[in-house]
Amino acid sequence: MRLVAWQPDDLLRRLDDVVAVYGEAMGYRKELLQTRRGYIGSHVRRPGFRAVATLTAEGRLAGFGYGYTSAAGQWWHDQVRASLDEPSRKYWLSDCFEVVELHVRPVAQGHGVGARQLRALLAMAEGKRVLLSTPEADEQVSRAWRLYRRFGFSDVLRDFLFPGDERAFAILGRELPVAEGTVS
Ligand SMILES: CC(C)(COP(=O)(O)OP(=O)(O)OC[C@H]1O[C@@H](n2cnc3c(N)ncnc32)[C@H](O)[C@@H]1OP(=O)(O)O)[C@@H](O)C(=O)NCCC(=O)NCCS
Repeated sequence: MRLVAWQPDDLLRRLDDVVAVYGEAMGYRKELLQTRRGYIGSHVRRPGFRAVATLTAEGRLAGFGYGYTSAAGQWWHDQVRASLDEPSRKYWLSDCFEVVELHVRPVAQGHGVGARQLRALLAMAEGKRVLLSTPEADEQVSRAWRLYRRFGFSDVLRDFLFPGDERAFAILGRELPVAEGTVS
């Protein structure tokens, strides 16, 4: 497995694979994936965009992750902003990198690929803090939760409902940079 940094056009060239990995990892239906494809395609032009990918020896996409500078006018940012009090807004949102997607194909999970992707992405990220959202789940059982806790992410908002999605999410955050060697 090889971890690479992706430029916006690298991701766009592999958009079909990206959407396929996303769908497999999240277990989402086909209809939902079409909408997501459009969003992902537009995200690559946002300021501060950074992306990483993991490729197999044959060049297959095993996982990817990306994010960008969180800013007013972005749907996710505005939803989170509306639920934070003023001091928290200032602290979390004024100079913040958002991890938008982080996924590993199910067959490749559990071998450190997600951790390597997250570490590389955060090392490239601009900003004083990083935020992400993840579905609420049992922290001991969920691989995503264990990963984020290992990386030192703490609760910013819990049981958060985004309009149009009945699942509850947690918004997690931490300061940047992540010191090298602190997370295995
Ligand atoms: C969440 C996700 C990205 C994590 O990626 P992953 O590659 O499975 O995670 P890692 O392999 O880095 O960590 C998983 C385990 O491997 C272990 N590990 C780390 N390095 C390792 C290595 N070199 N060799 C073997 N195992 C290793 C970790 O200790 C960890 O153990 P744990 O799961 O028991 O806590 C991935 O599971 C995924 O795509 N899940 C579905 C989608 C999702 O939830 N995405 C995030 C939503 S916001």
